[in-house]
Amino acid sequence: MTLRDLYKKHHWQTAGPTFYQLHLLFDKHAEEQNELVDVLAERVQSLGGIAVGDPRHAAELTTIPRPPDGAEEVGVMIDRTLRAHETIITKVRKGIVTFAFLTGLLLIPAARVDRPGTAVALIINGFAKEVMNQLPMEFAVEAQKLLGVSLEGSVG
Ligand SMILES: [Fe+2]
Repeated sequence: MTLRDLYKKHHWQTAGPTFYQLHLLFDKHAEEQNELVDVLAERVQSLGGIAVGDPRHAAELTTIPRPPDGAEEVGVMIDRTLRAHETIITKVRKGIVTFAFLTGLLLIPAARVDRPGTAVALIINGFAKEVMNQLPMEFAVEAQKLLGVSLEGSVG
């Protein structure tokens, strides 16, 4: 909700020679965020949770810094939205790793999960662990190598 509202603010307050393109772009991103909010809230509800339904409540919970009142320079607006995305991505990654630890999918020290792709690789290895344990050692080693190779360059 916070990111959606940030995009709407920038949609309304952008100015200058790039006004039209950015006005449309910020609105497109706001709509995409709006759709994501809906999907996530419905998923939370379907899993037995209670979705945050009030933007004022979301504002209390978020760690995305509140933008100042009034318009900012275009570069500052873009930088602010990039940082907001980084904040969300970082929290989601940490949430995935925490979930993986809590559910036993991830058994390797957290110090390794800061490297790009490592958390995803470790989670996949966690899923594959049961199968790997049943393979003869020489096959398990090869399978582990192949898993590592196929994950290189993937988004993590
Ligand atoms: Fe509009």
